[in-house]
Amino acid sequence: MIISKSQREITLMKEAGRVLDVVFKTLEDFIKPGVSTSDIDEVVEKVMLDNKCIPAEKGYYDYPAASCVSVNDTLIHGIPSRKIIIQEGDIVSVDIVANYKGYMADACRTYKVGTITERANRLVDVTKQAFFEALKYVRPGSYVGDISHAIQEYVESHGYNVARDYTGHGIGSHMHEDPSIPNYGKAGTGAKLAPNTALCIEPMVLEGKKDTRVLGDGWTVKSKDGKLTAHYENTVIVTEDGYEIITMYEGEN
Ligand code: MF3
Ligand code: CO
Repeated sequence: MIISKSQREITLMKEAGRVLDVVFKTLEDFIKPGVSTSDIDEVVEKVMLDNKCIPAEKGYYDYPAASCVSVNDTLIHGIPSRKIIIQEGDIVSVDIVANYKGYMADACRTYKVGTITERANRLVDVTKQAFFEALKYVRPGSYVGDISHAIQEYVESHGYNVARDYTGHGIGSHMHEDPSIPNYGKAGTGAKLAPNTALCIEPMVLEGKKDTRVLGDGWTVKSKDGKLTAHYENTVIVTEDGYEIITMYEGEN
């Protein structure tokens, strides 16, 4: 069941979203060759705590860190490590969830480190744009399948694949609520969108084949073929006449 949020709940979620935006802007200057993914995680945790938010991923099904930091062929759920050192040319996705007074917002950015290849650049840009293609369908009366279809269509038309085993989702007092929002599907199918619901729309894109594998740590998801991957996500509120993005503010990122 998709649960509509009260104005109070939306206000709290927006504060969580504002803090995610602050974290992302802080990371723009911080992510450089030589820093470890663990260093990135420390910044995420500090900025959240300084802004009265709890990093909701920490402890979620025993996940050990405040953020998921996924480099190059790691699609999602990369566990921050002192041993993973960022290098020039990397693409680094940082997926974070803030909990403000019991309410959450979830978002992800893929950072381009220094000069990157044209190949990597295009993948990151297409992944981000896939989110905005889906956003065109976010309003009351649209279907979840419209979002899924828009993402799949845009991504595949650029010669890439969407992940099949991981989806976007609703959000609120829980990180994952109904509906599930696959990155592939048929327009006009699934649940109908209603005002005051909150959605995490998150294209997860593979440059090569769609298959993924999970490492022995039980979390890290990589492309099976070792090719590049990218991820982009915002939390969006469905309004009376459209949408409001609550995890991205001035100076889009
Ligand atoms: N932020 C992720 C999502 O988009 C969830 C991460 S799993 C966790 O749904 F264990 F790290 F929390
Ligand atoms: Co999410």
